[in-house]
Amino acid sequence: MNVIKSISIIATLALITSCNSEPNYQIISKVPDLTMPDNNLKFTAIEDYKNYRIIGSHFRTDKKELRYILGNDIAFKASIENSPYPNGSKIVKIGWNTEEMSNFSPALEAKEVQRVEYMIKDNKRFSDNPGNWGYARFIKDEGKYKSWDKGTESCISCHNLAKENGYVFTEFQKME
Ligand code: HEC
Repeated sequence: MNVIKSISIIATLALITSCNSEPNYQIISKVPDLTMPDNNLKFTAIEDYKNYRIIGSHFRTDKKELRYILGNDIAFKASIENSPYPNGSKIVKIGWNTEEMSNFSPALEAKEVQRVEYMIKDNKRFSDNPGNWGYARFIKDEGKYKSWDKGTESCISCHNLAKENGYVFTEFQKME
């Protein structure tokens, strides 16, 4: 087989392989233009949150609320490796109310998003906060998001209970 022929076979194989590989699927959607009144954190700081990866999930039995905890790449890596969260970590919590599944009542399913909230590690902007975390919460009220207007002092003080884990309650939820 001559050189030209073997190069063209390799090139064709490479083309077939690249056509078969799955695209890296990204969800692109807009988030509301909202800002937290006390620390100026914006919803847009997590505009790509639907592409973050699951760190854990919780179910609040009193509120019957399902919560997913998601991390951007930086936070996800730290969580799975159980190492300290570096600067630039973003951790998002989404809460859904739940209802019985219409076709299988023993199971509950997520119904409507109730809130999206996040923690962002920024050692310049939040140098005075424990762990350098800034907090933001956006709650859904009659189908529309609005910024939490009761301040973030309570976020900081309750998350102090998770000081041992870098002020983050969630630990990586094993999948095996
Ligand atoms: C009374 C205690 C308390 C307060 C106040 C509180 N949190 Fe949390 N937070 C928790 C607990 C417990 C969890 C984990 C269980 C869950 O998902 O509900 C959590 C989880 C989170 C997470 C996921 C990362 C983690 O730590 O597990 C984020 C993000 C978060 N809270 C943001 C906020 C924001 C923003 C505020 C303030 C607007 C706030 N929290 C106020 C107790 C609190």
